[in-house]
Amino acid sequence: MVSAFLDVHLCLSLGNKGSFRLCRRSEAGISQDGITDQQSPRRLIGWRPSQHLGRHLAKETHTLDQGKKKASMSLIENCRSVTKDDIVIPDSSAVQQHKLPPLVSALKASAEENAASFHFPGHNRGRAAPSSLTQLIGVRPFLHDLPELPELDNLFAPEGPILDAQKEAAKLFGAFETWFLVGGSTCGIHAAVMATCSPGETLILPRNCHISATSAMVLSGALPKYISPAYNFDWDIAGGITPSQVEKAIKELEMEGQKAAAVFVTSPTYHGICSDVGSISQLCHSHEIPVIVDEAHGAHLGFHPQLPRSALHQGADLAVQSTHKVLCSLTQSSMLHVSGNLVDRERICRCLQNLQSTSPSYLLLASLDATRAQISENPKNIFNKAIELAVEVKTRINKIRELSVLDLPSFSDFPAIDPLRITIGVWQLGLSGFEADEILYRKYGVVSELTGTRSITFAFNLGTCREHVDRLISGLEHLPETFLPIQRIEDRVDDGCGAPFDGITMSLSPRDAFFASKRKVSVKDSLGKTCGELICPYPPGIPLLIPGEVITERAMAYLLQVRSKGIVVSGAADPSLSTIVVCKP
Ligand SMILES: Cc1ncc(COP(=O)(O)O)c(C=O)c1O
Repeated sequence: MVSAFLDVHLCLSLGNKGSFRLCRRSEAGISQDGITDQQSPRRLIGWRPSQHLGRHLAKETHTLDQGKKKASMSLIENCRSVTKDDIVIPDSSAVQQHKLPPLVSALKASAEENAASFHFPGHNRGRAAPSSLTQLIGVRPFLHDLPELPELDNLFAPEGPILDAQKEAAKLFGAFETWFLVGGSTCGIHAAVMATCSPGETLILPRNCHISATSAMVLSGALPKYISPAYNFDWDIAGGITPSQVEKAIKELEMEGQKAAAVFVTSPTYHGICSDVGSISQLCHSHEIPVIVDEAHGAHLGFHPQLPRSALHQGADLAVQSTHKVLCSLTQSSMLHVSGNLVDRERICRCLQNLQSTSPSYLLLASLDATRAQISENPKNIFNKAIELAVEVKTRINKIRELSVLDLPSFSDFPAIDPLRITIGVWQLGLSGFEADEILYRKYGVVSELTGTRSITFAFNLGTCREHVDRLISGLEHLPETFLPIQRIEDRVDDGCGAPFDGITMSLSPRDAFFASKRKVSVKDSLGKTCGELICPYPPGIPLLIPGEVITERAMAYLLQVRSKGIVVSGAADPSLSTIVVCKP
């Protein structure tokens, strides 16, 4: 019965499996190196082109040379009709036939049982799965969407397949211990900060940290000591932080009679810029300060001689990786690794128990295990093809006079840049990154990872294929011929007076500001009051005001100036900036 039922659903789903549609992403998110709006924490580091711009571009592309348009549309159509077999990169037969990874194997065995199931979830191993979704993904994901059955182990007290899977991951990534996460790196960052910082203790961190670091301070009660990241105005892109900046911050705290509870580094950044985690770790360890690395964008580091070394291999104490970003696990699945003896592992367990769902998805967990196995199969060579393709794209794009490729000389204080993150500068075409992105998408079906005012960023990975690379190169080569500048953004917002947040003081901790009552006041009345919202103009994508900070005249003048230049300010409840949310005294 069950198998007949599954067959029907499988046939249905296979009928649709063969094709995919390119769909436009949401226009809501705003982020720079993870400085994001709360709902949409990825991808768009500046404003999305407004609907107005989107429509404008749609109109522009309509008038494009019809011949060229047809050619590019057929390219896109070809891509839409690739079969599943074309797009799935097979694992080795060893993984397929003999030894499945521990958690994948346990999930398979459990799903194959002829169980009379009276447990959650209510789709009952796919029997009651909603057909609108099974038509898309089949019933098998539902069949394997099992709860915490005894044979599947317990994420919070693992002693079976989850423990085995986590141990294998720790071995591969070079950790003392690894935890699987079902709440993304966001959850790992929360746990890492809570495990190292108690209320009132200080966390040294870059001002352009991901919003999860800010919320980690709300959760932990830690107080920030910010470091201004390097900034390249040609690119409108922020970089990492340097060992000497960290040293200065540690010394300043020491002079106030304090010691940092932890140092937080984002490496690589969204654009792939890596900080010198080795020297930062050495420095911090000489003061017995643990180093947390937000390595959300770097789970692949170290798996090829051309890839920068991973944070753990450079001595970081805690590394948080979004396995779902560059590696191949399902979205939301991530890992937290610990090394050394500065961080109490039991405290990490307690934090995770407080932060993670009591019903973790076994599909997410198994996808972490499967991804680990995929890399373990061939850790030295698995990225060969992706790196070859990325190098080829860089070489070819470097030959196009009007385009630039982001490389280390633009961030000369930093030791490495991820070769799989390619950022192309388009400003010499008179285009913004958003405009170029629209053209590449509409004409070539090329979907980028991130757009900025002056650049677009493409993420290469194990699935990157020749055909897509050819389309990307064609699109980029033809950009100079096809663009129509639509909306200019002022080139730079560098007023030469230093960072606009320099000199800002904090009157409430992020935690106290979060819980404080709020009210809206006019810009004029906000001066001297405690900010109640995170206000982040892009560029430069570094928060100008963080909840708890005192609103200065200089900060407000800067904000109004950038706003008048058409630059979008994210995070403010009133995007027009007529009013500001402040904390009630
Ligand atoms: C630098 C950085 N850190 C952390 C995160 C959060 O990762 P996740 O989406 O896995 O929660 C992101 C997400 O984009 C990020 O860019």
